[in-house]
Amino acid sequence: MNAATTPSDVRDGLVSIPGGTFSMGSPADEGWRGEDEALHEVEVSGFFLASFETTQADYERLMGANPSANAGAGLPVESVTWYDAAAYCNALSAEAGLSPAYAIDGATVTWDLSADGYRLPTEAEWEYACRAGTTTPFNTQTSISPDTEANYYGTYPYGIEENYFSQGGLETRPGVYRQTPIEPGSFAPNAWGLFDMHGNVAEWVWDYYGPYDEAVQIDPTGAPTGALRVNRGGGWNDFAKSLRSAYRAALPADGASPSVGFRVARNAAAKTGVLGAQVATTATGDGDVLVAFFSWSGNTRGIAQEIARQTGFDVVELECEQPYSSDYNTVLEEAQRDQNVQARPALATRVGDMDRYGTVLLGYPNWWASIPMPIASFLGSYDFSGKTIVPFCSHGGGRLGQSVSAISKLAQNATLGEGLSVHYSGGSGLAADVSAWLERNGIGR
Ligand SMILES: Cc1cc2nc3c(=O)[nH]c(=O)nc-3n(C[C@H](O)[C@H](O)[C@H](O)COP(=O)(O)O)c2cc1C
Repeated sequence: MNAATTPSDVRDGLVSIPGGTFSMGSPADEGWRGEDEALHEVEVSGFFLASFETTQADYERLMGANPSANAGAGLPVESVTWYDAAAYCNALSAEAGLSPAYAIDGATVTWDLSADGYRLPTEAEWEYACRAGTTTPFNTQTSISPDTEANYYGTYPYGIEENYFSQGGLETRPGVYRQTPIEPGSFAPNAWGLFDMHGNVAEWVWDYYGPYDEAVQIDPTGAPTGALRVNRGGGWNDFAKSLRSAYRAALPADGASPSVGFRVARNAAAKTGVLGAQVATTATGDGDVLVAFFSWSGNTRGIAQEIARQTGFDVVELECEQPYSSDYNTVLEEAQRDQNVQARPALATRVGDMDRYGTVLLGYPNWWASIPMPIASFLGSYDFSGKTIVPFCSHGGGRLGQSVSAISKLAQNATLGEGLSVHYSGGSGLAADVSAWLERNGIGR
């Protein structure tokens, strides 16, 4: 890391970030790193980045609407799609008399690099600014406190998964889980004056999701096309492992989450060129609907049965060749170990006529804030191009966690529907929740 200076210049709420080079991604020994975080050298030109996440007051004033699930004028805007964030940038440019960064034509968005208006940071700019010279998992070094450093699912600090039964070894012990975004700027900023780069809401960036090019990069702008856009930094509902500076979440550009918002950026010097391509879409076939699920203690099975009761769709339970232990403490260990090494446990269940199905309603329990690895095995066993996957999950408080991002990355050729999260078995509201969810996804009965 050899960034030129420490930024001190803040104008119109944007910090002047000096150009420099840094190692993007995570070292091989970083705990809970993803396979998509290959370490590589990146040179970033100077740019401006907002000190704070965009608030609901900011957004509503310009856009005349507020989609946030957790309402509060001073809270960060969330539940915005990537397109909403791009449109907001243009509206802010128009108000300031600047040239718009984006040309938005339906699902096609192109970025005019010469524009002086507001825009989303690139993924590389975001990580460079988040790190602010650090090479550790967080810009707060090797752990991050939910009480004093960032707003996240503080019951699950960094490393809790493999230390669940021996918490004495943890650098940060479990702390507060606020269950909501909070006002940006509630904690100290990073070394470059940027608040909440970790936690509160994850932040959309420009880039399509794709593997890193490991050659030395100068101002990389991500994959040329794709179906998913990246968001960074993790949010109020994420475990610490998903707040890491190198962690990459990806969702369909028209997806929205109460844990995802954004902050704006601007060029510091004029650039040239136009970027962007038609979003890669795959035609979704009509076909039949299959309900496929994995369940350990029966709650997800109950949701699948309710879906079948309402629809009559085919149902298949995904079972492993080597079942997980029926002992709770043991399965906690087995599940985190499998997730940590991204295992693909062999499935005993085989869907013989997958071609027949155009839509798969995919159910699972939230395990360690993501999918159980048998779901990854299932997604790797069939070609989901042209199919629609609609996730449903049972959880103990973490809702969908990072499971939708995980499914998106594993089935990039599928179209993703809106997910349903059910608290444990869902209780008496289950039938109505399932019915409303099917309706929202336009799934006929
Ligand atoms: C290994 C394991 C990990 C879990 N991790 C989480 C979690 O990170 N977040 C959460 O909200 N619930 C978590 N839970 C709770 C389950 O999601 C919840 O009990 C769910 O209802 C189980 O669904 P099932 O009966 O279909 O297995 C976990 C449970 C197990 C067994």
